[in-house]
Amino acid sequence: MTGRPRAGQASAPPSRAPRTIRYTEGPHLLVRGDCIRALRRMAADSVDVVVTSPPYNIGLKYRTYRDRLDENGYLDWMVEVAREVRRVMRPDGSFFLNVAGSSAQPWIPFELMVRLRELFVLQNHISWVKSISVGAETHGHFKPVNSPRYVNRNHEHLFHLTLAGDVTLSRLDIGVPYMDKSNIARRGHRQDRRCRGDTWFIPYETVQGRAQKFHHPGTFPVMLPQMCIRLHGKRAPVVLDPFMGTGTTLVAAVREGGQGIGIDLDTIYVNVARQRVREAMRIEADGATGAGDQEI
Ligand SMILES: C[S@@+](CC[C@H](N)C(=O)[O-])C[C@H]1O[C@@H](n2cnc3c(N)ncnc32)[C@H](O)[C@@H]1O
Repeated sequence: MTGRPRAGQASAPPSRAPRTIRYTEGPHLLVRGDCIRALRRMAADSVDVVVTSPPYNIGLKYRTYRDRLDENGYLDWMVEVAREVRRVMRPDGSFFLNVAGSSAQPWIPFELMVRLRELFVLQNHISWVKSISVGAETHGHFKPVNSPRYVNRNHEHLFHLTLAGDVTLSRLDIGVPYMDKSNIARRGHRQDRRCRGDTWFIPYETVQGRAQKFHHPGTFPVMLPQMCIRLHGKRAPVVLDPFMGTGTTLVAAVREGGQGIGIDLDTIYVNVARQRVREAMRIEADGATGAGDQEI
């Protein structure tokens, strides 16, 4: 997620929530409304994979939501959302939570994780690397930090939370080929693929303007939820994003043959998400080579 912080006024999101409206696109459900309210209407034990990036409380400029709550109020709210997420997750489900702090507020993700210990086991901690320099070459994009005190922030957290810490994953489905092929026979592997590990380099696509990011200040690339869904490994999974924004997780669900459920407060974002889901479904139906066919 990227974007420019701004000063804002604290507000409790649920009290400002608009009326809930539900839309279906094929097998996918998109809800305009408050996520806690919508989650409470969902059946328990009904979701396989949750992939979401909530507001980070660092002052991003969303259309409807004010991203600057009192810190304890924010953490209490996130715990409340997580409690509902836990309720709707199947016992063998995975919850991938993408969060980051800012240079001025670096503790928020860690404070949040300490609070979530009462609800989940932290099964994996993945770093989503948006940009990296290898030798003299830089790959990917980042927003420069204009301060001599801080280095640029090129990665975000991706916490993999489960109910008991014992969910079996399909590690090789997002694995990488061995560099040294002699390792395959020497270590008795059946295929040329090893676990990718916990640093995932997923750059943003190069864009020419805000429109290509759907005028939303904090999207993630489709490949991120796609890799989470694939790592979880269940066929035709039910995939939930309670903070769907422009529907990136639902596009990933379409590409991975899942059934998506997305919720967002903002009408315009939900409309963008509906269009993106329709387009992703059309590409899948045509069997066209879309970005979904990209090698992971
Ligand atoms: C970081 S963005 C998610 C972006 C998304 N991953 C994407 O790629 O487009 C967080 C989203 O949470 C939404 N939001 C904030 N409060 C909410 C609430 N109470 N219920 C549902 N959505 C909410 C905001 O409108 C915003 O779009």
